[in-house]
Amino acid sequence: MSDRKKVSLPALFKKVSEGKPITFLTCYDYPTAYFQEQAEVDMILVGDSLGMTMLGYDSTLPVTMDDMIRHAQAVRRGSPNAWLIGDMPYMTYQPSVESAIRNAGRFMAEAGCDAVKLEGGAEMADRLAGIVAAGIPAMGHLGLTPQSASALGGFRLQGKGALQAKKIVDDAKALEDAGAFAILLELVPDRLCKLITERAENCFIIGLGSGLDAHGQLLIYHDMFGLYPKFKPRMAKVYAEAGTVIQDGLKQYVKEVTERTFPKEDNWFGMPDEEYEELIRLLK
Ligand code: KIV
Repeated sequence: MSDRKKVSLPALFKKVSEGKPITFLTCYDYPTAYFQEQAEVDMILVGDSLGMTMLGYDSTLPVTMDDMIRHAQAVRRGSPNAWLIGDMPYMTYQPSVESAIRNAGRFMAEAGCDAVKLEGGAEMADRLAGIVAAGIPAMGHLGLTPQSASALGGFRLQGKGALQAKKIVDDAKALEDAGAFAILLELVPDRLCKLITERAENCFIIGLGSGLDAHGQLLIYHDMFGLYPKFKPRMAKVYAEAGTVIQDGLKQYVKEVTERTFPKEDNWFGMPDEEYEELIRLLK
């Protein structure tokens, strides 16, 4: 285990004030959380993207609070020290401020999260403010918000035109005023991300596919390692083709078992001759 200190909100703001970028990754399971803890990733998002990356749905919409809690608990066990954010799934906060507070509270009480994230701008500011008033740090999410992909016209760049960009700037201000400690900008033009980052006073900005100028960067773990077979988004850098390595290993396993070249003597345990002979005698 790493012996680093638990990441706290003041430590994150200190990093930002020193001009040091925040590192942020998605994670959904214990072994990956363990690796991310060893790498000293600052913040971990248990994203509702787990509906696609882990559960094989075509969107994030079917994901439930119970799905999220189970995965967040596993991640917390693997990474006791990262700042852990639970991503609020579809229709767990949109219906009312009350539903938002109740479900945000579940992430804190049942999974040991440090904060929650919810999608949406000014129209969700009262949900975010309610969560913050209940003593739970909350992160906003603007730009490409996957729970609204249908309304946004698909998984595409947001805020390219001036009018739509102005709405995102206004939404960021509304979330900051509502008490967001951070805002994720997903797939917006780099200049828009820079502008919002420069204007942020009481929160920090995280970019995903939105250029270099945010206070920190988020990547989807499965995109980083070629682990999601359905598509590879342009915004993701593939740090290693782990998916290919795993697939090659699986093919090799099937070949070796079929050819009886696995297991080898190193992979099993023997029995002393006298014990074996005694066993045969007992069986007679
Ligand atoms: O669910 C998730 O992983 C997210 C990212 C796409 C930002 O919300």
